[in-house]
Amino acid sequence: MAKDTISIINNSTGERAEYPLLKGSAGTPVADIRKIHQDLGFFTYDLGYVSTASCKSSITFIDGNKGILLYRGYPIEDLAANCTFIETAYLLMKGHLPTEIQLAEFNDAVNYRSAIHEGLIRLFQSFNHDSHPMAMMVGVVASLSAFYHSELDINNLQHREICATRLIGKLPMIASLCYRHSVGRPVVYPRADLEYCENFMNMMFSRPEEQSFITKGHYLDPVAIKALNLLFILHADHEQNASTSTVRLAASTGANPYACMAAGIAALWGPAHGGANEAVLSMLEEIGTVDNIEKYINKAKDKNDPFRLMGFGHRVYKNFDPRAIIIRDVCHEVLAHKEELGPLFELALALEQYALNDDYFIERKLYPNVDFYSGLIYKALNIPVDMFTVMFTIARTAGWAAHWLEMMASPVRPIGRPRQLYEGSEKRDFVPIARRGK
Ligand code: CMC
Repeated sequence: MAKDTISIINNSTGERAEYPLLKGSAGTPVADIRKIHQDLGFFTYDLGYVSTASCKSSITFIDGNKGILLYRGYPIEDLAANCTFIETAYLLMKGHLPTEIQLAEFNDAVNYRSAIHEGLIRLFQSFNHDSHPMAMMVGVVASLSAFYHSELDINNLQHREICATRLIGKLPMIASLCYRHSVGRPVVYPRADLEYCENFMNMMFSRPEEQSFITKGHYLDPVAIKALNLLFILHADHEQNASTSTVRLAASTGANPYACMAAGIAALWGPAHGGANEAVLSMLEEIGTVDNIEKYINKAKDKNDPFRLMGFGHRVYKNFDPRAIIIRDVCHEVLAHKEELGPLFELALALEQYALNDDYFIERKLYPNVDFYSGLIYKALNIPVDMFTVMFTIARTAGWAAHWLEMMASPVRPIGRPRQLYEGSEKRDFVPIARRGK
């Protein structure tokens, strides 16, 4: 038997086939079973694709057992300590850290594309003021393809890079308009003198009628900007998660990048993916006081009770979420500035300590994940709760763009086409409507 292969035997027929066991630069090896149907006449069943590698990628590496997260080989801890979000976006997209000149050029390119077309601003007027911000995001991002169609050739490298940079550039203004439209405030345009996160906060919260507020506004507080940069870095990519896989599947058809990103945003919207930090805040509000913690911990442990401790546990990280370790300290720092949030934060910390010392959570390796803290930070930055997933969208656009660019650069990109285990009726005779009875 050849080394680095895997044999699959059909026990009912005795047929056997051998497949290469591919080894990446790190992580679990992958059996290349693409020919299994041709060889053995069956498909594989993998609900939720939990054991399926859908692509080769060089962007992000996760070791869930060891709590390792690398972007392009760099530990998330180092990037969080030393980079801005824009530097991280460059790294994800281009594969290497930028020099000072490259970073300045990238910043300029992003800034140059940060204002949206006036026609797109008018598009917001057609949404009801109480539309969910994510509903507006999906629609407006998809509409970018109607406004910037002259640079949409996915086989042209320059067009692809412009599309990716444009998405990163325009997302903050689109996100801020989702909020401003809902509260009826006038449009605020991006400013070239502000960096990415400052610009976003300025477009969200500045009031043109209060000029001094623009420069002295609390939303440009360095602690807040540092926290936002950090959250954007931590959420920028996470390998082949549901929304990234959605972007890749849409892209496999040759759809334009704006349509692909809109598909990714729709996938991110679901509470099982991008909505967890919102759920953490609702849970803390429901628990209310430290005295109720024991009661709610018991509810979380009760299999007959649907209540789960939000912000605890992770599908991939089984010892700790490295992003949670990084964000925990910043969460302390930000909340120290916000006296009015003191009780909420104390409750969160008390809950965290209780669960970390409880056998149920210890045995099941349930630790706080990044979203346990991110919701608290967003709340401290005055971001409305229904904007939390929009914040995630801004950050994850860097990852989606990197994956889309990687995919488009590949000479082989077959259309994604999973198979199924059919459980419906076998072929049956058609019955005309007059003979179907009442
Ligand atoms: N509270 C109480 N019990 C839990 C929890 C929880 N949050 N999470 C898992 N368990 C229990 C679960 O009931 C099961 O117990 P048992 O073995 O007795 O049946 C055991 O722990 C293993 O759970 P699982 O459902 O098999 O674990 P999973 O890996 O399939 O689920 C999860 C992961 C994230 C869906 C789940 O932990 C959960 O629902 N957490 C709360 C929601 C949350 O915080 N989601 C955000 C994830 S981070 C987002 C990101 O990375 O972008």
